[in-house]
Amino acid sequence: MSRASFPEGFVWGVSTSAYQIEGAASADGRGPSIWDTFSTGQGDACGHYHRYREDVRLMRDLGLAAYRFSVSWPRVLPEGSGEVNEAGLDFYDRLVDELLAAGVAPYATLYHWDLPQALEDRGGWPERDTAYRFADYAAAVHARLGDRVRTWFTVNEPWVAAFLGYGSGIHAPGRRSAADAFRAAHHLLLGHGLAARVMREAGARDIGAVLNFTPVMTPAQVRDPGRALSDEDAEAVARIDALVHRQFLEPMLRGAYPADLLPVVERHAGLGHLRDGDLDAIAQPLDLLGVNYYTPSVVQAQPSEPADPAFPGSEGVLFCTVPTAVTAMGWPIVPDALPPLLRRLTREYPGLELMITENGADFADTVTPDGIHDVERARFVEEHVRAVHAAVEEGADVRGYLVWTLLDNLEWADGYQRKFGLVHVDFATQRRRLKDSALWYRDLVRRNGLPESRPKRPTLETVAARAGVSRATVSRVVNGEASVSPEVRAEVMRAVRELGYVPNAAARSLVTRRTDSVALVLSVPAQGGDALVSAVVQYVTSVLEAAGKRITLMLADTAESHRRVTAHVEAGLADGVVLLPPERPGPLTERLARTGVPMVLLGRPPVASLVPYVDVDHAGGAAAVTRHLLATGRRGIGMLCGPMDLPATQERIAGYREAALAAGLQPVVVPADGTPGSGAAAAARLLDDHPGLDAIVAASDRLAVGALRAAREAGQLVPGDLAVAGFGDGDVASATTPALTTVRVPVADQALALARLLLSRMEGRHTTSVVLPVRLVVRASTG
Ligand code: FCB
Repeated sequence: MSRASFPEGFVWGVSTSAYQIEGAASADGRGPSIWDTFSTGQGDACGHYHRYREDVRLMRDLGLAAYRFSVSWPRVLPEGSGEVNEAGLDFYDRLVDELLAAGVAPYATLYHWDLPQALEDRGGWPERDTAYRFADYAAAVHARLGDRVRTWFTVNEPWVAAFLGYGSGIHAPGRRSAADAFRAAHHLLLGHGLAARVMREAGARDIGAVLNFTPVMTPAQVRDPGRALSDEDAEAVARIDALVHRQFLEPMLRGAYPADLLPVVERHAGLGHLRDGDLDAIAQPLDLLGVNYYTPSVVQAQPSEPADPAFPGSEGVLFCTVPTAVTAMGWPIVPDALPPLLRRLTREYPGLELMITENGADFADTVTPDGIHDVERARFVEEHVRAVHAAVEEGADVRGYLVWTLLDNLEWADGYQRKFGLVHVDFATQRRRLKDSALWYRDLVRRNGLPESRPKRPTLETVAARAGVSRATVSRVVNGEASVSPEVRAEVMRAVRELGYVPNAAARSLVTRRTDSVALVLSVPAQGGDALVSAVVQYVTSVLEAAGKRITLMLADTAESHRRVTAHVEAGLADGVVLLPPERPGPLTERLARTGVPMVLLGRPPVASLVPYVDVDHAGGAAAVTRHLLATGRRGIGMLCGPMDLPATQERIAGYREAALAAGLQPVVVPADGTPGSGAAAAARLLDDHPGLDAIVAASDRLAVGALRAAREAGQLVPGDLAVAGFGDGDVASATTPALTTVRVPVADQALALARLLLSRMEGRHTTSVVLPVRLVVRASTG
């Protein structure tokens, strides 16, 4: 078979970062970093500081040509500046020697997000001085390692460091200020330029920077990349592209900020932090650009949408969820977005070598006695390597590919739950175990390429033939039946492994009589829930169908239909049930649960049950909206709520009460039945009974619409006299006058979570309920 070979000298390797693997946070004089402060008590990561020899051995055994690691700034300069801690540098000295002895080229990244806490205490990246301190630090590291390290990366993903660290605050140091985020971005760029200059002057060979790329596209383009865009969507795509990509590419590679970005920077941060000469300092000649790619950004124009705090200036742009295959992080898997990105970079910045410096996937792994068969991870890498190959064939100047990452590690704010490694780490013992993806990658590296087209998927028959047994026996083994002897079982499993066989539904159903159909049961939609229900039907259907399931839609609105649904499931006509929305107290859930057929619910049921559900953080959302009103100076805040028998309503009340009490206010709750009319009547009562009232939190957007009507009728101005906020962010929220501040409930994410939860239950995996975060969306109705 002909192979998709890569050019000779194409570099295969892996990437890691110091904070995520080293541990030993206070060994040999290391100082604290912002990540130690931000996530305390995270343990020893992979203990790599003491186990680096073993890890280098793993890389050698996999035949890797390069290893991209990061140097921990607070290990080298515990105070961020001043005296160099030689003992900290000694570690990297030993690491580099070990790598060279193993034939693995060391690629050093100087900044992978672990700023010394001492520098954050002096203002962090929003402070100009940090850029100069970074250049000093780069000079110190280069002075020690420059005789052996040939490839240097200054900063890793400065967008993430600036906008998640200082804008949305979900990363260290956790600040939430658009001004700080833009200032941090500029100083990271300046630090990059100053560091590149000192290292170049000191004789560094290859210098680059690493940026995060999330090709920006609309939902329609995910399926059809060539799809033409409306003017509004094209503008939305260009704006996000400027924020995430061109904000960094253009100053580094062309010495100028994009013209369409500067007004955004000016609006949020002014331009006082951009000094004469900065852009010249930033635009140092670069030898290579590191491309980190995981997933695209999917957006569309949506006029009422407020800015996302990680993207200041993104007003009117909606970040969308799309029904594609995703990793366990929930990141859509879109290898097709990579070739156009790589071609674009080669076209727009000719002469610049590119390297994929990170690409990989988080998937939950199962450790079995005979290994970790992480087929999904290997397939993810394969599809992306194939995409890189296509790009190279089309002229993109890509010189290498580094998998993220060698070891399961400490994934920043997400902790240890994420599994990106080719190598499994047992964090209790620090034992390393190669996953199948590592062995697969070793083979790819060995032959410098992939088979031309993916081999035909092995079938049940192929496995049976290889193992010399019947199809039914293979099926029994695959289904974990005890009736097969250990010898035969071992023989079948060997064939499964060698052929890379993934059991499909047919193999399982041969023995278990599975039907591969799922009943999607709609009970009576709660008021206002119709939009959610229709989105769920659409998304759940598309995800489950993509997984090869047939969907039977069933209504459960009468006692007779309840009986029909139960009979259908009891008769074994469905091997999974999705029940939505949560029924009112009633016996259907319990009757279906007793059938033993895997089931999931949309919404926490009113009666405690063992059936897993997907819901959102109602209490957190109500508390956030109440705190927002308090922060804007409101002191008389009442709540409208209903329907009262829904768990969601009760939780929203609890969140409101807690936030009000914490601020020393007496909560006032007025029930309504859920319609706008009932909301208007209840709001009128609230206004009459509480003359000091200056804000109303409604438990739904529909009730808030009623509150707006009542305010109008009472001659109160919104938001001047009375602030009004809703909950849900359905279509109505942006159509009111003034547009409604509300709490965004992630509709598509709930649907996707529901589908995934059901699939994993059907595969017999242990699953727990999922509660998704909500987001406060501030519009005009609260001032
Ligand atoms: C990248 C980071 C890396 C890791 C992966 C999953 O953004 O550079 O440290 O967290 O994402």
